[in-house]
Amino acid sequence: MNSEPTTDTTRSERIVERAREVIPGGAQTGLRAQAYDTGDVAFERANGATLTTVDGEEYVDYHLGFGPIILGHADDRVDEAARNAIDGGVLYGTGTAPLEVEVAERLVDFLPGVEQVNFCNSGSEATYHAIRLARAYTGNEKILKFEGCYHGWHDYVDVSVYPPEDELGDPHPESEGMLSSAVENTLVVPFNDSEAAEAVVREHGDDIAAVILEPVPHSVGCILPRQEFLETLREVTRDADVPLIFDEVITGFRHSPHGAQGEFGVTPDLTCVAKALGNGYPIAAVGGRTDLLEQAGGDNKSGVVISGTYSGNLPGLAAARATIDTIVEEDVQSHVTDLGDEYRAGLRDLLSDHGIEGRVVGHRSIFSVQFGVTGEPENYEDILGLDEERFREFAAGMRERGHFFTPNPYKRHHLSFAHGEAELAAYLDDADDVLGNV
Ligand SMILES: Cc1ncc(COP(=O)(O)O)c(C=O)c1O
Repeated sequence: MNSEPTTDTTRSERIVERAREVIPGGAQTGLRAQAYDTGDVAFERANGATLTTVDGEEYVDYHLGFGPIILGHADDRVDEAARNAIDGGVLYGTGTAPLEVEVAERLVDFLPGVEQVNFCNSGSEATYHAIRLARAYTGNEKILKFEGCYHGWHDYVDVSVYPPEDELGDPHPESEGMLSSAVENTLVVPFNDSEAAEAVVREHGDDIAAVILEPVPHSVGCILPRQEFLETLREVTRDADVPLIFDEVITGFRHSPHGAQGEFGVTPDLTCVAKALGNGYPIAAVGGRTDLLEQAGGDNKSGVVISGTYSGNLPGLAAARATIDTIVEEDVQSHVTDLGDEYRAGLRDLLSDHGIEGRVVGHRSIFSVQFGVTGEPENYEDILGLDEERFREFAAGMRERGHFFTPNPYKRHHLSFAHGEAELAAYLDDADDVLGNV
């Protein structure tokens, strides 16, 4: 059953072939399977900035697990902390553990909008809990979200992340099998459109449970928020007493230990963090105002139920404590921000040298090349029309030369503390070569 056919295929190809028999699409998610667009690949090691396939091919990793890896793969400080936690037993599932308190205290200290915290294991769980808290608080059902923002896979939010052009403005379900009532209860407007958002909140304020956004939408590469947009959202939601939820699953601890809320000086009522919080370990949290979180402080018979067998698992918490402390002690954000600026500047020069229409977007440790579109994107509509095929060719050419990132043209490159000048020089050198041919 487990034997691999012996042909002159690579081990990666043989494993992916076996995977396709027993795993739908041959990977755990459709997005992961997109890696196969540039050739079947199976990985078995990752260290620092390097990702290694089962055939021993090494890549500089710009995917970084979709963003959690901020310190580098297999960071000693984080892994040792997790190992120590494992030695004490991975899960107690009753009462509390000192580590929970220590990590919660750090989140309260660092994130301006967080007074209390509940842990969970993924970003989707965090946004689910945030919306349930907001619905309980307001007694309302409708959610206002923004086109191009992703908040996880559940029915409450998997709407209008990548809507087709002719469905802009209407809630577009991203999956089959979703509850129509969840979709119907979602209002969508373009990101950065203060007027539209304000009008919706003022008009439907009595029915809206929450306004949720990625403060810097990275699910479509990178859209920078207008300061005035974030401030307007803060003002109108405060006036309507509707919780404002910042989904900082990508931005929190990747861009700053204080989150985008610290960076832009706009404080939400509820905050979701995950990904870089644990440098790859499954750990996430919903935090926010005490009066909102306290709704979940009951005995599971009243108030808001927040539950989860693995919530607050000790290796995840230990990893989070070590990740947060390392980020702060090593000033990781200065390193990755400076490096990100160098990648962006280098890529812009290359596009111009080769006379290629396109743009380089990004913020701090995140960047993306988008072919066939120009100008700074303000919203999801500004991203439509990018040249998908050219990006896939670029990704394939770069992969051949030892640089890995997902060939999905709407996604992004990530940098970690383990990336440095050597990776930058090799990347730009090879990008020069590839861009000469795409
Ligand atoms: C902004 C944002 N929110 C929520 C999620 C969902 O997180 P998870 O995949 O951990 O459920 C993601 C995942 O990519 C995300 O990017």
